[in-house]
Amino acid sequence: MEKLRNCSLKEYNTFGIDATADLLVKYSSEQELLAFLDEYQREMSHQPLLHIGGGSNLLFLSDFPGVILFSEIKDISVLFEDEETVQVSVGAGITHDDFVLYAIQHGWYGLENLSLIPGQVGSSAVQNIGAYGAEVGNLINKVYTVSLQDGSTRAWDHDELSYSYRHSIFKDEAYRGKYAVCHVIFQLEKHFTPCLNYGGLMSSVQAKQIHPENLSAMQLRDIIIETREKKLPDPKVIGNAGSFFMNPIVGVDVLHRIQEQYPKAPFYEVDSRHVKVPAGWLIEQCGWKGKSLGPAAVHDKQALVLVNKGGATGKDILCLCKAVQQSVFERFCIQLSPEVNFIGES
Ligand code: EPU
Repeated sequence: MEKLRNCSLKEYNTFGIDATADLLVKYSSEQELLAFLDEYQREMSHQPLLHIGGGSNLLFLSDFPGVILFSEIKDISVLFEDEETVQVSVGAGITHDDFVLYAIQHGWYGLENLSLIPGQVGSSAVQNIGAYGAEVGNLINKVYTVSLQDGSTRAWDHDELSYSYRHSIFKDEAYRGKYAVCHVIFQLEKHFTPCLNYGGLMSSVQAKQIHPENLSAMQLRDIIIETREKKLPDPKVIGNAGSFFMNPIVGVDVLHRIQEQYPKAPFYEVDSRHVKVPAGWLIEQCGWKGKSLGPAAVHDKQALVLVNKGGATGKDILCLCKAVQQSVFERFCIQLSPEVNFIGES
C-alpha cells in the first residue's frame, strides 16, 4: 500500500486538471484495501472517500478535501474454459486496453471494438464503456466488490448489474460511490467473429483490401485504434475525457422535428419509439466545433470531446460545458447530459 499526502491529481485524471487530494491511497490487493478501510473507519471517517479509476471520466472542480483510493490489483487468472468460451478474472487496476491486447494475444475474443478506450478494468465495468457497436457489459459475467462503507465483499451476477447505455447499477443513486470493484470476470469467445456493423467499420476493413472473412482480431484492433486516433485527441498530448456528453435518447417525434430542418441528421435506432442522436452532431450544428472559451475548447475533429488547451481548471471546463448545453437546448430543445463525473464544489 502506498499513501501520498497532499497529492497532485494531475497524473490521475486525463483532463490534466491540477487539483490536490489530502491523501491518495494505492492498494494492490483486496486485503490491503480492507486493512485501509479499517484504518479509515477508526481514524478518518469524517473525511470524504472517493474511489477513482484511470481518471478518464472525471472532472475535478476543486481540490479534494479527503481520501482518494486507487486500485493496483493486477492479477489475471483463467477460471474456466472449454472449446468455445473462457472465463477470466481480471484485477480492477489493470488498464482496460492492456487487457484487450492480452485477450487477443491469448485467443480470447469480444473486446476488439473496445480497443484504446482509456481507463481501468474496474471503471469499465462501472461505466459500461462502449464503442463501435460493442459494450463491455455484454462480456461481463460477474463483478466482485468491497463495500466502502462496511468492508463487506459481494459478487454481482451479470443480471444484477443493470447494464444499459453507459450505465450500471453502480451509477444508480443508491449505489454510487459505495463500492470498490476488485475483480471483473469476463466471458470471452474462443472463435473470432468480427463485429463490423457500426458506421464506417466495414468500409475501413475493405479499404485495407482485407476480406472480412480473413480479418484477424489483431487487424480489427489496429483498425479501431487508427479510427479512434484520427478523431480523438491523445490525453497525453491534450487533456480530455473522451466523449464529454452522452448521446441523448429522444422520442422519434423529436427526431422528426429535427429532420424538418436537417433532413440528413444522423441517428441510431434504439427501439421503435426512440432514437439516439449524436451529441457531437448537435454541438457542431450550434457552431461550437473547434471553438474555445478561455483555456477550454471543443475539439476540432470531434465536437463531443471537450479539451484542456493547457492550464484549464475544472471550472473552466464546466463553463464551456454549460455554454454548450445551453446552445444545444436553445436550438434543439434537447438537454445534453455529461458522461463525465464531476467531483467537488462548482
Ligand atoms: N458527428 C458530427 N460532428 C461531430 C461528431 C460527430 O457531425 O463533431 C456525427 C457524425 O455524423 C457521426 C455521428 O455524429 O457519424 C456519430 O459520431 P461518432 O461515430 O464519432 O460516434 P459518437 O456517437 O460521437 C460514440 C461514443 C464514443 C465511441 C464512438 C464510436 C458516446 C457518448 N460516445 O461517439 O465513445 O468511441 O461512439 O463507437 O456514446 C467515449 O465514451 O469516450 C467515446 C469516445
